[in-house]
Amino acid sequence: MVKVAPSILSADFARLGEEVRAIDAAGADYIHVDVMDGHFVPNITIGPAVIKALRPHSRKVFDVHLMIEPVDPYIEAFVDAGSDIITVHAEAGRHIDRSLQLIRSFGRKAGLSLNPATPIGVLDHVLDKLDLILVMSVNPGFGGQSFIPAALEKIRRIRTLVGDRPIEIEIDGGVTADNAQDIVAAGADVLVAGSAVFRSPDYAANIRALR
Ligand code: DX5
Ligand code: ZN
Repeated sequence: MVKVAPSILSADFARLGEEVRAIDAAGADYIHVDVMDGHFVPNITIGPAVIKALRPHSRKVFDVHLMIEPVDPYIEAFVDAGSDIITVHAEAGRHIDRSLQLIRSFGRKAGLSLNPATPIGVLDHVLDKLDLILVMSVNPGFGGQSFIPAALEKIRRIRTLVGDRPIEIEIDGGVTADNAQDIVAAGADVLVAGSAVFRSPDYAANIRALR
């Protein structure tokens, strides 16, 4: 069954601990945390201190999506904060191989994210260092944007590329109950959803609708 990773970017930031407990109880598989620096993306969100404060609120996988540049100097802080999966952007560093090795050196799972216009060729030589591939289906920076349909063909191609390697394919941006089926059929294992989960108070129903 497809995994659902609610993005707390769409949660009530004044009640984040409570919100994390609510999505945990509602059946979230991963807690997706969007970290933005106002430099790699045109928005600023939260950092390691907030993740550390949220950590005791759920035992689920903390799936931390770093939209920051540079990224290497901050990896250890996100490890210490309690991240389980740390995903970096292919466009955010010159030495992606090193970033992925660094994440794994701390015993955490390493993810690589591709912006909508980023070719899948960046994956070719790092497949053995990846636990997750995050396909952006919006330009990163904000929740509530519309799904870019070209992401479906991208997922199909990445599915073929990954083969039977133990790498999860995650999609992020504009995922709704209406397009989830096509996304899963294309080969995604994990659906990130911000607006679609937090849009109305019954988070469990919203997660069920996505599945
Ligand atoms: C966008 C973030 C996403 C975003 C998803 O930069 O990486 O995780 O919060 O939000 P929705 O589901 O509303 O598109
Ligand atoms: Zn994200």
